[in-house]
Amino acid sequence: MPLSLTRRTLLTGSSLLAGAGLLPRAARAAVGQGKAVSLSAGPARVNLAGKDFPDTAVWAYGGRVPGPELRFRQGDTARIAFANDLPEPTTVHWHGLRVPNAMDGVPGLSQAVVPAGGRFDYEFPLKDAGTFWYHPHANSGVQVAHGLTGAFVVEEREPIRVDRDLLWLLGDWRLTKEAELAGGFGHPMDATHAGRIGNTVTINGAVRDSVPVRAGERVRLRLINAANARVFALDFRGHAPQVIALDGQPVTPHAPPDGKVVLAPGQRADLVIDMAGKPGEGFDVVDGFYPRMAYRLTRLAYSAEAPLRDSPLDAPIALAPNPLPEPDLVGAVRQDVVLDGGMHGAMPRNAGPRGPFWALNGVAAMGHHHLEPLITVKRGQTQVTAFVNETGWWHPMHLHGFPFRVLSRNGQPAEHREWRDTVLLGPNETAEIAFVAEEAGDWMLHCHILEHQETGMMAVLRVT
Ligand code: C2O
Ligand code: CU
Repeated sequence: MPLSLTRRTLLTGSSLLAGAGLLPRAARAAVGQGKAVSLSAGPARVNLAGKDFPDTAVWAYGGRVPGPELRFRQGDTARIAFANDLPEPTTVHWHGLRVPNAMDGVPGLSQAVVPAGGRFDYEFPLKDAGTFWYHPHANSGVQVAHGLTGAFVVEEREPIRVDRDLLWLLGDWRLTKEAELAGGFGHPMDATHAGRIGNTVTINGAVRDSVPVRAGERVRLRLINAANARVFALDFRGHAPQVIALDGQPVTPHAPPDGKVVLAPGQRADLVIDMAGKPGEGFDVVDGFYPRMAYRLTRLAYSAEAPLRDSPLDAPIALAPNPLPEPDLVGAVRQDVVLDGGMHGAMPRNAGPRGPFWALNGVAAMGHHHLEPLITVKRGQTQVTAFVNETGWWHPMHLHGFPFRVLSRNGQPAEHREWRDTVLLGPNETAEIAFVAEEAGDWMLHCHILEHQETGMMAVLRVT
């Protein structure tokens, strides 16, 4: 699969963006205070793989992949009138945003599913600025893989100074030679291993051989991993990116560890990159997460224009923190969550040919309905959760409703104690997180490798 991916990237070649001035942004939704944004989900045909390949039948928000970039200001109220034009039920989940429970988009848990032809009005205040995204939470392994993903950006009240604000929503598709979506969704071979990893990686819905940049400019690059299962580790060769936010939440600006920006499914990273190359130069952006499967994601292609400035912009890049409640570690309640199962692991006792294959604390959940809470906590309580990965696989564990601080990894204090909504655990790793259970309700906790989530690796946190 990585072979065909590399080939496809090469095949689509330099013609792809020839003549294009700038990387086209996903169109911004016109947002006015008080006015509802319309958002529909339905079938569409789009060109993903490049002009040498036919269009692909997908499911899309607003007819394109990714869906419209929803942009608001911190403190606004988002009003989104959603219409389901898909042939099956769906919902929309606002990944990483602190929304009231009834707006969280989990069918059978926080709302009734939106049937085919149905509508649902979402409305929530935007407490936090940052880079977030939206996707379905019904049959999500199939629906996300069909293209139902979109960026949700909440601008800071006082944004940092940059020359351009770029966003790359990364998608991963398993396509046939004719660029049709390959079938076999939920195949046990994927579900018991690393999930449905594809063969075609897209940036904002297209294979992009290069991305135009200008010497001397400072770019804020918002990265979103919207793939079902693929983890990325991006190396911006020849550049020194600074990480300024993770999962939408500001972090002390720092160079990515080992020079690689790791993004698991669901995760985001905001980078500041000073374009330090010379006019006409090109630099590869390489994804090397899986050993021996590195490939070129794209290339930063410098225009011939004279540098925008001679030395890097002298302006602060640290973002103001969001108003998150600080965990009270002294008064915290503790709970371990043990991840089990998968190939070569301890399969759940009720495992059948289609699952479940994974479990949290021995419980293998299939479907959102009638889930007994795994954790129950009082409103306002600080919860410390230790994830213990006893499997041989990677798992990005995602908690709805409450961004959490990462306290430690494998017993070592976490360097930045960053706020996140999804924490990636390697094989046999542990991580300790802490959060304040601010809002009552039932909230999902699950692996964001969607084939793992759907075959047992999910649970409910109940806040009473
Ligand atoms: Cu982004 Cu429960 O998901
Ligand atoms: Cu997993």
